Amino acid sequence: MTLLVTGGAGFIGSNFVLDWLRDHDEPIVNLDSLTYAGNLQNLGALEGDARHHFVHGDIADQPLVERLLAEHGVRAIMHFAAESHVDRSIHGPDAFIQTNVVGTFRLLEAARGYWGALEAPAKDAFRFLHVSTDEVYGSLSGTDPAFTELNRYEPNSPYSASKAASDHLVRAYHHTYGLPVLTSNCSNNYGPYQFPEKLIPLVIHNALAGKPLPIYGDGQQVRDWLHVGDHASALRAVLERGVPGETYNVGGWNEKPNLEVVHALCARLDALQPRADGQSYASQITYVRDRPGHDRRYAIDASKIERDLGWRPAETFDSGIDKTVRWYLAHGDWVAAVTDGSYRAWVSKNYQ
Ligand code: NAD
Ligand code: TYD
Repeated sequence: MTLLVTGGAGFIGSNFVLDWLRDHDEPIVNLDSLTYAGNLQNLGALEGDARHHFVHGDIADQPLVERLLAEHGVRAIMHFAAESHVDRSIHGPDAFIQTNVVGTFRLLEAARGYWGALEAPAKDAFRFLHVSTDEVYGSLSGTDPAFTELNRYEPNSPYSASKAASDHLVRAYHHTYGLPVLTSNCSNNYGPYQFPEKLIPLVIHNALAGKPLPIYGDGQQVRDWLHVGDHASALRAVLERGVPGETYNVGGWNEKPNLEVVHALCARLDALQPRADGQSYASQITYVRDRPGHDRRYAIDASKIERDLGWRPAETFDSGIDKTVRWYLAHGDWVAAVTDGSYRAWVSKNYQ
């Protein structure tokens, strides 16, 4: 029995792999093409651990995936691999279509062939868990109810449109071929090993470097925030107890405007590592040009996963933010290693 994890060197994938191998002996084959967002340092704690088998490769390489499934007798695919950053999808959508749409299609084809040849009970037990986002549902007004699994898909960015397309393919493989798929649609994650292009690690990194904390537009856009450890536990619940063909919304019950998130980060940094001049890090807040097509509000109604699978997040926003700020303060070496030349080129392109 083995799990195939795709994108397991990225932010959420590596947290999932580390959490899984802390609690289980079931091995993981980790397939990752190591884009700018993939980093083997995230998995350094697993060096020499025979339960973790890393494969450097692309999910769109169908023969490779077919070989891995057969050689390792995979019982489930946890599909994290994706291009995941909205701003990058605005500057260059091609990679998003290639990995999120074509890559997911190739992975589904490999899974269909492998699963189709399995015998019961392995065939009944097989699962394809597709890790997706709440962004497929589009944007809410301030008074709209939170997204349920029944909301229409109304993706607005090339990123969310590519994820929506992949969700539809996954759904179709269940309805057409009977592939036992599960889909999760999760809100914004934060925590260890998140690349400092996303809001929370970017703000921590810039604050400590004495750089501006860039707020798009008026900073009143709302997101729901979930600690990545809670996302990993939700995915374990979906894998073990989810019903094939079902989708599950995953969220933290933590809706916050961006400006409030940034102030919370500054307050933790002020307490844990005050600036030498005694001023608050909040004095570095700088309003910048808004993101084109910026979604105003996302909110997740996570009642179904709680009711059907008994899952609720363990962290509050305050406890999760405190842990995260402490992690970044203790891991300056990790941040320094990932903010290399290509990172600096991205920052000057996006914030010019
Ligand atoms: P990430 O960008 O940090 O990591 C993505 C990983 O996928 C990287 O390791 C990268 O090298 C790998 N990858 C990219 N293209 C690949 C390819 N063609 N073949 C193999 N590997 C490839 O992303 P993340 O934030 O960890 O997100 C993981 C998944 O969760 C994504 O599917 C994303 O859509 C979804 N998600 C993310 C969030 C969030 O807040 N970050 C929220 C909800 C859902
Ligand atoms: P991000 O972390 O990119 O996630 P997503 O776009 O998938 O929600 O952004 C979170 C919110 O923070 C989003 O409303 C955009 C905003 N934001 C800024 O205001 N400034 C920034 O520099 C970044 C990266 C994001």
